[in-house]
Amino acid sequence: MSAPAFAQVARVFQPDAVGATVRLRGWVQNGRSSGGILFLQLRDRTGVVQVTGKRDTLGADLFDAVEHVQVEGTIEVEGTVADDPRAPGGREVRARTVHIVDAGLPFPIFQEQTEEFRLDKRHLAIRSAEYVATFRVKAEFLRASREFLEREDVLEVTPPILTGNPAEGGAEAFQIDYFGRPGYLAQTAQLYLEAMLAPHERVYSLTPSFRAEKSRTPRHITEFQHLEVELAWVDLDGLLDFIERMVSATCHAVAERRPTELRTLGRAPEELLAIQPPFPRLPYAQAIERLAQQGMPVRWGSDLGTAEERALTIEEKLPVFVTRYPREIKAFYMARTPDDPRTVEAADLLGPEGYGEIVGASCRETDLERLRARIEEIGANPEEYEWYLDLRRHGNVPHAGFGLGVERMLRWMLRLEHIREATPFPRTPSRHTP
Ligand code: 4AD
Ligand code: MG
Repeated sequence: MSAPAFAQVARVFQPDAVGATVRLRGWVQNGRSSGGILFLQLRDRTGVVQVTGKRDTLGADLFDAVEHVQVEGTIEVEGTVADDPRAPGGREVRARTVHIVDAGLPFPIFQEQTEEFRLDKRHLAIRSAEYVATFRVKAEFLRASREFLEREDVLEVTPPILTGNPAEGGAEAFQIDYFGRPGYLAQTAQLYLEAMLAPHERVYSLTPSFRAEKSRTPRHITEFQHLEVELAWVDLDGLLDFIERMVSATCHAVAERRPTELRTLGRAPEELLAIQPPFPRLPYAQAIERLAQQGMPVRWGSDLGTAEERALTIEEKLPVFVTRYPREIKAFYMARTPDDPRTVEAADLLGPEGYGEIVGASCRETDLERLRARIEEIGANPEEYEWYLDLRRHGNVPHAGFGLGVERMLRWMLRLEHIREATPFPRTPSRHTP
């Protein structure tokens, strides 16, 4: 296979390109022929352009061969850029010659197929314009997050994924056989980030997290990308200020840098530019009252599930923090509210318009005895957490942090119906292939 000088499709849309000779290579999105002329839509990473080829120019054999290139077959083309008002984008490339890289077999994916079939063929389905746009937005979100964290002087670190302690409740950890001893796939990097605070003060990680939740909801997957931040010397208000700035900054970056992709997915960039701090902060106690007034069966101690989170945010345009939850429904490491022993210094950030929890945040319990008691209360063995308790014995400082579910964030940003559309190879209770 010869490697031509690479010419981006974008090049043919530059003002001075008409008349220029270009060499393109890419995937045939679709093609047809009529009256001795081929019309191909050719895609590369920069976009899609129409390529035309005449039987007279290409010769009968090559023309026939190109006519038989399948959807998603690959070709290289050399030709001239010409204006053509009928072509998408107003330009086309008139082929002088074509080299068929892989004519391909009939492409199995088309619109009419069932969702299950398209999930079975996910490795091919991800070539659609919608997925291309989605994963470019995702990459932009990750880039913008890193840029924000860099500006905030937060250090990126690399916690382990194989662990000996489940951190967010043992029942939802994937247990593995670690050379004959129990091991777990990480549900969170938090405990390790807390350990790395002492020298660095501000740390973050972006890692896969795993939850063995059998929940079949549009917002649960068993493997997700987890962006976690841990900050020393920060209280709940300081933490929530940080989160709302990060969420706004990343929304703005995506709106500014990926407007075309957003529009492809039906999201106006202006809507993301309108995401600005401050976000509303609603204490759990008030949230419960509000829900009860709406006739929902909640009382103090009720966890907020999909329906409750939806009811709280369906009319909202900005994300909403629900703060100070009862401690019995939250994780063992959360700090008690100083003037209210019933609640913890925690907040969940809920996406507006009913999208539900995107971020889980809290101040961490720094009192050694209370922490040990909470570990016992949840039925875990404090001995296994000795290393974590050590952190409270050597240079203990007030600190707080949060975890943002990247696919949850994308689901809201792009108004995706199901979270699995925010990840190329979704893992759910019923599927871990392809
Ligand atoms: O609220 P969670 O469980 O909090 C923690 O794991 C903390 N230790 C994080 C920290 O403070 N460092 O999870 C954090 C976020 C959730 O808000 C949600 O966005 C996402 O992780 N998440 C999931 N995303 C998709 N599918 C699932 N099954 C998820 N479980 C949690
Ligand atoms: Mg949570």
